[in-house]
Order: sequence, then C-alpha cells, then structure tokens
Amino acid sequence: MNLHTTESDKNAAIIFSLEGIAAKAVDEYLVDPEQCWQPTDFLPDMTKDDALEQVAQLRKRTDAIPPEVITSLVGNMITEEALPNYQSFFNLLKGVNPEGNMASENGWVSWSRKWTAEENRHGDLLNKYLYLSGRADMKQVEITIHNLISNGFDAKSEQDPYQALIYTSFQERATKISHVNTGKLADKAGDDVLSRICKTIAGDEARHEKAYKSFMAKIFETDPNGALVAFETMMKKKITMPALLMDHEKDNSLFTRFSLITETMGIYTTFDYANIIHHLTEQWKVAQLTGLKDYAAKAQDYLCTLADRYRRIAERVKLQPVMNPAWINY
Ligand SMILES: [Fe+2]
Ligand SMILES: [Fe+2]
Repeated sequence: MNLHTTESDKNAAIIFSLEGIAAKAVDEYLVDPEQCWQPTDFLPDMTKDDALEQVAQLRKRTDAIPPEVITSLVGNMITEEALPNYQSFFNLLKGVNPEGNMASENGWVSWSRKWTAEENRHGDLLNKYLYLSGRADMKQVEITIHNLISNGFDAKSEQDPYQALIYTSFQERATKISHVNTGKLADKAGDDVLSRICKTIAGDEARHEKAYKSFMAKIFETDPNGALVAFETMMKKKITMPALLMDHEKDNSLFTRFSLITETMGIYTTFDYANIIHHLTEQWKVAQLTGLKDYAAKAQDYLCTLADRYRRIAERVKLQPVMNPAWINY
C-alpha cells in the first residue's frame, strides 16, 4: 500500500514534534570524537621506525583468511563506504529537516550528522586494513564503491520517516550480525586483530540499533496505528541491503555473489532475517497492542506470524557451493 499524503503528512508532523528524542539520543548513544575509537588505533603506526614490520605482521595474519571471508569483509566495507547516500536519505525524510539545512541544530539533523560521522570510521578502517593486507583487488573495490555511490540507494521507505526508522532499526541489527560473524571467521583463520576490529565496529552498530529502536518505540507509543501500518508496509516491500546497487555494467553479479557467500558462510542468512523480524516485533510489543483501528489490527496479525513464515523459507534455502568470490587478489 502506498501511504496516502495525509498519512505521510501526519507522520512528518509527529516526527518533527519528536526532535527532542533525537537530540537526547546523540548524548545517550553516540560518543564524542575525542573519546571514540579511531581507525589508527587498529592499524600499523606509519610514523614509527618499525612501520613496515607492523605491515608485514598484518599481512602474515591475513594470509590464511579464506577468500569467502575476504569477500564478506569487502562487501561490508563497501556498504559502509556508501555513507553519503545514507546521510542524504535520512535528511530527505519528511519532517526531519524541513529547513533543508545540514548545519541545523534540530535534533534529527544533528543525529544524522553525528551518526554518519561514527559510521565514517567503519569504512575508513576496513578499507585501510584490506589495502595493507594485499588480499583484495583494491582497484576493483574502488570501482565498486564509486559505482555504488553513483547508483544511489533506495530503502523503499517513500520518504516516510516511520518506514525509514523501521528500515534503519532492521539494518543496524543486520550489519551488526554481519560484522560479528565475519569477525568470528577471521579469528578462526588466525587474525585476532581483524576479529577485534569487526567486534568493535559491531559494537557501534549495536549502539545505533538501540537508538533507532528507541525512536520507533516512541512512535509506537505516540501513534500505534500509524507505526503498525508503516511496519507492515516496510516488511511487505522487504528490507533490501543498502549495497544492493553496487553492480555495474561490467559485472552485474557482484551483489548476488556477495549475498550468496554471506548466506553460505553463515555470516548473514535468511534465518537472521527472520530472527530480526521476531526481535523487532518483540521489542515493540506488537502482539500486546490493544485498542487498534481495523487496518492496524490487520497489520498486527500479519506482523505476528511473519518471522515464522521467513523461518520456513529459510529452512528451504538450498546452500550453493561458493563460486567466484569477488574482489580477490589471487
Ligand atoms: Fe557501520
Ligand atoms: Fe551503524
């Protein structure tokens, strides 16, 4: 269903009135630049005399990492590097930045800047680490990033802030899972530093996820009917990965190969998709909502059985042998 203009205007007005929760979340969930970890905390210190020795150690550590894990790492990194798209996406939501001013002190605009400033470190760190490892064909990686940013990003949330906050709650949890599982496989392959990097990034995603879930919880409290319909609408369209548009004319199977690999390696699977839906419905106490309008009660019924439906789909997913990991230096 497409949101009627009136529904979308109502959502925009409510979001605008809730800018205080975003301002509070900046203090509660985000970390000041001076206190925050930075990419160089995990990288060879190039100012030191033994810098090249540190690089050699890094390369030794990454030697035994399977190409599939490198592919997952590159895919995660490319997703992070498309950051300009996410900041634009957020500021284009109705009710978020009506002044059209990126320097605004409005809570949502400030949140969007400080959230993406944290995200910026993720791509930086993974990019530099991969570059030094020599395990990836960085020129091809760079072309993919260039393409992804050029091609854009469509969360299919129709500029509706409710749907977008459902999308980001889902996506922060999904990226957290993906980083955690990639880190576990790096550890297994003998790279404890990379494992720590993935865990640290996942820790950031966990804070972001908490913030986005808290925004949506407030919307469920303020406007349960509207929140339910937005949740239903978003889930019917399915949550697409932010890096979906990474393909380009010379290679139109990059995203498919990356997704197949993460599914087969157990890094991010259809079971995870089902579990995230379950988690979010529990988190927002969807089943317990009462006094709903008819259309919202229907959305509630749909949402309460959705995770199980995806679990049944997940059981039928046939894992395929991994073919042609992408972006790899052989
Ligand atoms: Fe991130
Ligand atoms: Fe994040």
